[in-house]
Amino acid sequence: MFLFDAWYVAAMDRDLADVPLPIRVLNERIVLYRQTDGTAVALENACVHRKLPLSMGRIQGDDIECGYHGLVYNAAGECVRMPCADRIPKKARVRSYPLVSRYGLLWIWMGSAERADAATICHVEQWGNPSWGVTGGDAMTVDCNYLYMTDNLLDPSHVAWVHRSSFGNAACESTAVQVAAGEAGVIASRWMRAVEVAPIYVPFMPFSGIVRSIAAL
Ligand code: FES
Repeated sequence: MFLFDAWYVAAMDRDLADVPLPIRVLNERIVLYRQTDGTAVALENACVHRKLPLSMGRIQGDDIECGYHGLVYNAAGECVRMPCADRIPKKARVRSYPLVSRYGLLWIWMGSAERADAATICHVEQWGNPSWGVTGGDAMTVDCNYLYMTDNLLDPSHVAWVHRSSFGNAACESTAVQVAAGEAGVIASRWMRAVEVAPIYVPFMPFSGIVRSIAAL
């Protein structure tokens, strides 16, 4: 069972270039591609004709063409070209998903499009602030049920022991995690004041000694 009315990270923005990118979200096959102005599009990855993945086709301007018999779909998922046909049936369309580029990520809405509100994408403090840096990396595939990952990430109390050589240290042992429930979920956080920073942050410290406070999610 999945939570459909939510924003999910579909891909890193930088990973979507000039060829269709097949992805799978909540067990749905989706194809991403870019229009000529760079706008990213997400469509159901199955042609209505013989279900060939559209990701096996090619981008044609702002549209995508199926690689089997040449049906062409626009960003709304409507078939706009059907070679050798007199007319295009209204039902000849694939699902189109709301997609938003933010924080270097492509966010996809898996529920009803009418309920998609980009304002509800989680807020990242200090994003765009030139005095703050951004570190990046590749996606990590974890071979387990996704519920284990949500459980792990909502439970930062483990970092003092599991990640002692990186972003955990003894200070994490004695600072309780606060949990706040909201309409859309829960936030687990804690403030650690006047502590030594964990080993992974030390190279980035502009000074030595303790820091006044660290917010750790
Ligand atoms: S399967 Fe796509 S056009 Fe035939």
